[in-house]
Amino acid sequence: MSSIKESFGSKFGIIAAAAGSAIGLGNIYRFPCEAGANGGGAFFIVYLTIVLLMGLPLMLSEFIIGRRSGKNPVGAFQALAPGSKGWGIIGYLGVIGSFLIMAFYCTVAGWTIDALGKSIINYYHGLDKNAILGDFNNLMNESWQPILSEGIFVFLTAFIIIKGVTKGIEKYSKILMPILLGILIILGIKSLTLEGASEGISFFLKPDFSKITGKVLISALGQAFFSLSLGMGCLITYGSYIAKNDNLTSTAFAVCISDTLIAVLAGIVIFPAAFSFGIRPEAGNELAFVTLPMLFDQMTGGYFFCLIFFLLLTIAALTSSISLMEVPVLFLTEQMHLSRKKATIYSAIGVFVLCVLSSESLHDGTPLKLFGLNIFSLLDTLTSKFLLTICGLTTVIFVGWKLKKEHFYDEYTNSGTVNMGLRKIIYFIIKFLAPVAITVILITQFIK
Ligand code: PFF
Repeated sequence: MSSIKESFGSKFGIIAAAAGSAIGLGNIYRFPCEAGANGGGAFFIVYLTIVLLMGLPLMLSEFIIGRRSGKNPVGAFQALAPGSKGWGIIGYLGVIGSFLIMAFYCTVAGWTIDALGKSIINYYHGLDKNAILGDFNNLMNESWQPILSEGIFVFLTAFIIIKGVTKGIEKYSKILMPILLGILIILGIKSLTLEGASEGISFFLKPDFSKITGKVLISALGQAFFSLSLGMGCLITYGSYIAKNDNLTSTAFAVCISDTLIAVLAGIVIFPAAFSFGIRPEAGNELAFVTLPMLFDQMTGGYFFCLIFFLLLTIAALTSSISLMEVPVLFLTEQMHLSRKKATIYSAIGVFVLCVLSSESLHDGTPLKLFGLNIFSLLDTLTSKFLLTICGLTTVIFVGWKLKKEHFYDEYTNSGTVNMGLRKIIYFIIKFLAPVAITVILITQFIK
């Protein structure tokens, strides 16, 4: 592997690629599931606070580690804290975490591809709630169909990765994410005009503060990190591709805002429609995979919207999964000296095997369970509630307490050319506020 690394081609290229990583199934599938299961408005308000106070500083921290070192997460911690082996563990946890998330992620991406296939043949047209739900449950119990769609998804991810960072990632994310945003706005307008929509909107947006519990806090923290692609080394990896004169703060702001906007819009689309169709907010998978096809069927031009929507959702999932897979790939190329092609093929095979186990564990009466959870839920819980939060915490501690302050300021201000006024506040948040807040939430969870 040569030591000269590719940089992103333009400022918009980095934002598009980092936002491409952030925006994905986490926003449209997972955010409504978590908000629905955790009291709607109460979750929403906690989520927004966490994005601002913990997500943004952590994103900056990851960019700084990546750009300063120019390396993969393991190499980055080793390079910035030479001689102290312990910090490298965060990097290893990130590599393991991204691999595990990828397996769970590809399962959901497989359902998305299945929905895309069904929209092409107009399969959902005229079906009622029970029929769509029955069909979704059948899919979970099938053996081969999910494996096929997962295989297609893993293959596409690996294919784009082998083509290289700038060419692969930048090209696809730039145009498509704004179109996804446009479709969500149209869907939101439709959903808000359905009968009974107001109940859904007040569930989602009106906070009932008495519902804020330890479970809500940890779920919101896990969801925020998952959605912003944090605590996984992913944005360290991307940071290593960012050019020295790019402004890290404005990039992080743009990514956080666009990611949150898409999640909020997904909530505005899904909850009013779910309430109108009699789908419970805690229903989980049904929220996206049953509500949305029903919503499309009620719209003029529903066939067209359904098709474009699932196509874009598949692409959004792809831009996220390439960023996830890039973590083990860069690790294998830089640390293990494999060629990029070999590293990608090995990672893809590993992910695919685990992904098959994850989706097969969703069959009724499955023996594929550990600690009372099927493999799919286990991978999700283990990564979002533990790995991401612990890695996120140790990352801000690293930047606040281990990295030299001058080095932080140097990266953060691009050697004194930008953000001079804000640097002390941001440093204070990274050093004190974010670690304390994340620790409190983690402790609440462990006590429980
Ligand atoms: N942020 C992505 C999403 O919301 O779909 C998922 C993800 C990508 C999580 C990359 C973690 C990560 F490192």
